[in-house]
Amino acid sequence: MARAYPLVEHEYDVLVIGAGGSGLRACVGLAEAGLKTACLTKVFPTRSHTVAAQGGISAALGNMGEDHWSWHMYDTVKGSDWLGDQDAIEYMCREAIPSVIELEHYGLPFSRLENGKIFQRAFGGMTTRFGEGTAQRTCAAADRTGHAMLHTLYQQAIKHGVEFAVEYYAIDLLADPEGVFGALAWDLSQGTLHLFRAQTTILATGGYGRAYFSCTSAHTCTGDGNGMVARAGYPLQDMEFVQFHPTGIYGAGCLITEGARGEGGYLTNAQGERFMERYAPHAKDLASRDVVSRAITIEIREGHGVGPRRDHVDLHLEHLGADILHHHLPGITETARIFAGVDASREPIPVLPTVHYNMGGIPTDLHAQALTLDAQGQPTPVPGLMAVGETACVSVHGANRLGSNSLLDLMVFGRAAALHCQNTLVREHRLRPVPGGVVDRVLDRFDRLRHAAGSEPTAHLRERMQKTMQNEASVFRTGDTLNQARKALGEIWEASADLRIQDHSLIWNSDLAETLEFENLLACALTTVTGALMRTESRGSHAREDFPDRDDLHWLKHSLIWLDGAGQTRVAYRPVNLKPLTGEVTSIPPKPRVY
Ligand code: FUM
Repeated sequence: MARAYPLVEHEYDVLVIGAGGSGLRACVGLAEAGLKTACLTKVFPTRSHTVAAQGGISAALGNMGEDHWSWHMYDTVKGSDWLGDQDAIEYMCREAIPSVIELEHYGLPFSRLENGKIFQRAFGGMTTRFGEGTAQRTCAAADRTGHAMLHTLYQQAIKHGVEFAVEYYAIDLLADPEGVFGALAWDLSQGTLHLFRAQTTILATGGYGRAYFSCTSAHTCTGDGNGMVARAGYPLQDMEFVQFHPTGIYGAGCLITEGARGEGGYLTNAQGERFMERYAPHAKDLASRDVVSRAITIEIREGHGVGPRRDHVDLHLEHLGADILHHHLPGITETARIFAGVDASREPIPVLPTVHYNMGGIPTDLHAQALTLDAQGQPTPVPGLMAVGETACVSVHGANRLGSNSLLDLMVFGRAAALHCQNTLVREHRLRPVPGGVVDRVLDRFDRLRHAAGSEPTAHLRERMQKTMQNEASVFRTGDTLNQARKALGEIWEASADLRIQDHSLIWNSDLAETLEFENLLACALTTVTGALMRTESRGSHAREDFPDRDDLHWLKHSLIWLDGAGQTRVAYRPVNLKPLTGEVTSIPPKPRVY
């Protein structure tokens, strides 16, 4: 039993955990609708990871050539390698257009064309006329679109009276068999614990890139929502699908936007060959990210990498000229100078595929309601729980996300979550009392970790986990590497019983915060490896060398994985929705071999 902790109690209609793009967009809609809304965030809102998004947000506005939402939908279904749910994809691609216009009206400072319309650039996998031409669909604010978005939404949230709990860490959901009724949080700066009760809790906690050793994600991307959901006894979906971005800066991992290739940048190997022409003769350097990442990995494996260790490739922007670099790519020009010591106007940038995005997460429907399976194995909403953004799996990205569909997902489903709450919640409805035992269980775990007196520092175990994931659950996987990963993660789980926390205080205790984050990351790593081991096919970002073909007969389905308190996983599956909101079920073409 934990020692007594005084709790500060709060009541809201809606509690949003996370202040990135999706969390803030939900908050704005909730507060606009008059719902009493709290936004709890472990970092100051404008430091959330959305701030790092560069290239832009997709929407078939057609400002720079013909376009249509149905072409966007086709690209997204194809990009997902047919694992995306087509009702949700149709909803996202249709709603993209009003969502972007709404952002413009909120004041987002998009880059502009001479005629005043929003500038749009080409991005991988985005085509016109169902694959015939190249679409310019990605709306951009230079190469700092996420930065512009986050500041715009934060200002709107303040304007509409959202109440922020800044630098509060969400420890766990408050959940019982009737559903979720809030969360327990730790105020990092004051050292106090807070019980937030709400009719609905929306998780907007982002991805879990930091389960890997090298990623484009911020250090804060630790899968906190996924960890909380797993501990509350709900499943995670499609966790085996981890996207590698082809152009992380060699060594540092920082993102060089795909927009750089959208503007005409290209990759070369040690022979100076534009090798993407061999792997994707049509789309070339703008093939989807899974294809480009595999191609780079193969080039390096076959000895065609550049540099003394032949372990990366070159990205050329020198030919684009100072004007394009200055106006459209100023951020990455600076990033290349700082992190690679390279003047992008004169020399190539050394790059390597780097973990970038998690397609899997908390299963939701297109209203952002979190799902579990009922006793009959049918998907059913978890009362009181919703999820949006990278922590959610709607699933609009399926097995592989197209670039610039992420900021879009944040806006469309953040907005959808707010609309759903607006339509279903009663303002200031009386909240149900806190059931006995639920808070104690959360406090027991917190207290156990706070006073952990074993011999293993968290940082050691975290590094073992990150290296395991980087080496064994990478761009290419096999049953052998994944079994090794499963074994290693099992040992790390066992070793975590022997954790040592040196700082037992409650104020700015980064040792304890990192330990809570590590437990969330380990839950993500275990479910990722389990899903990858089970899925004996290759699809999207999941490339099994021992099963190189897509196998629609057996694997056109979503995986759902539960994790128990002993680190054991349970797996179930549910069908992909191949039926769009309007129109007929599409047939799935056979997969061309791309490697
Ligand atoms: O390359 C990029 O700018 C990343 C965009 C995205 O992941 O959507």
